[in-house]
Amino acid sequence: MRRHDLVIMANRLPMRRSGRASGGWERSPGGLVTALHPVLRTREGLWIGWDGTSGRASRTIEHDGLQMKPVALATRDIDAFYHGFCNRTIWPLFHDAIRPAEFNPRWWEAYHRVNERFAKAAARQVARNRAVWIHDFHLLLVPQMLRATRPDLRIGLFLHIPFPPEEIFARVPWRASLLHGMIGADVVGFQTWKDAQNFSRASRHLADAEGTDSNLTFHGHKVRVNSFPISIDAKEMETLAARPSVQKRAVEIKSRLGNRRILLGVDRLDYTKGIEARLVAFERLLETHQASSDRCVLVQVAVPSRETVPEYEQTRTRIEEIVGRINGEFSHPGSVAVHYFRRNLGREELAAWYLAADVMVVTPLCDGMNLVAKEYVSSRVDGGGALVLSEFAGAAQELRQAIIVNPYDIDGMAAGIRRALHLPRSEQRFRMSILRMVVRRHDVQEWSGTFLGALERA
Ligand code: ADP
Ligand code: F6P
Repeated sequence: MRRHDLVIMANRLPMRRSGRASGGWERSPGGLVTALHPVLRTREGLWIGWDGTSGRASRTIEHDGLQMKPVALATRDIDAFYHGFCNRTIWPLFHDAIRPAEFNPRWWEAYHRVNERFAKAAARQVARNRAVWIHDFHLLLVPQMLRATRPDLRIGLFLHIPFPPEEIFARVPWRASLLHGMIGADVVGFQTWKDAQNFSRASRHLADAEGTDSNLTFHGHKVRVNSFPISIDAKEMETLAARPSVQKRAVEIKSRLGNRRILLGVDRLDYTKGIEARLVAFERLLETHQASSDRCVLVQVAVPSRETVPEYEQTRTRIEEIVGRINGEFSHPGSVAVHYFRRNLGREELAAWYLAADVMVVTPLCDGMNLVAKEYVSSRVDGGGALVLSEFAGAAQELRQAIIVNPYDIDGMAAGIRRALHLPRSEQRFRMSILRMVVRRHDVQEWSGTFLGALERA
């Protein structure tokens, strides 16, 4: 069996099995795949993860220039590990506890069991003294498990979501085990420095680690802790947006919407993304006559996500109710106020929507980074467009020239959207040129190079 110099591990493979798409595979949803797919393509490693189905363990697969090793999850694992501990315990808790987290010992056992399976798979696949890069909250125990069997390896862990303040994290009954799992890595990376500090403080206070916010020691093992803000393949996005077919489609979209000003939201359908608040802010503009559906339209494209988790089902219902309410009140023949599409767009179509949008509205209540904001900026090869961005997205720390809003303040958010719609052209172009420069300079290649460089030196 061939052993690899670099193994990437994430809960999901970059492609998931599908009955519909060509060859039975389609791109997996979410920001992790957007960021890591181009990294792995250039570095020729192996990606270990779940293929989105139940119970299919199989050999290594080559697809779209990627080498992928599927890890099997049985139906009970999908329920207790993925839907349970990952999506109903860690996800809400790490996102400011904006929904109550559930602490179920059976889910915890499943989390432990599945992490062990991932650790075993990695131990078999990676060459001696080489690197394993573990991603996200699904696999927090893997670093320690892997170190126990393969102490020769360099082990990196990157958390794509926020790490909560200690007083929120402390609620987890298995908090010390989670921290010990993470501390097994040589480098632990976060989206922002605040997340890194939260982790280091929790490790010192709840898991007996010693040291500073950036260097921890636990039982003689040294761990580097830092922030590594993730990004996108900016060049690829620019190339896509510059294609004549994409530009033509953007013009067509505008014309089909009656050449009104377009406000656009693009998200996984998740309660953290602030989709309801954004809709209500738009409604506020309409009811106070600061905007009219004759002149502007809000388009919300939401890709279905984690649909069997009740909180996601409730979020979907609420969004659909609000869309119905706004359209019932403010649409006219030929000028629907809100267009809502519950679907996954292809990359070209997505780029065309970004190009067509006068204002991109990105308003999460809490988000590790938010790559949609970076994709929008990068795709504006024409220098146009304006970005409204929540202060609670990691991206707000870099994209300072966006119009920054608080998604809990509906009037403030409505004012931010209105301001974006009325920005003087020179200011709008100035802001966009700086935003574009920031994303181009700090792209995903820089991110992966910096992380892997830190791992190499560890
Ligand atoms: P998260 O990782 O929480 O899903 P991000 O904003 O970081 O959030 O990344 C979302 C990724 O998913 C982006 O690459 C974006 O283009 C993609 N995406 C989101 N919504 C859609 C959609 N409706 N259709 C296609 N792609 C989408
Ligand atoms: O970090 C956000 C994340 O959990 C990623 O792991 C993934 O990109 C995305 O959300 C999609 O989630 P899921 O794999 O649960 O569909």
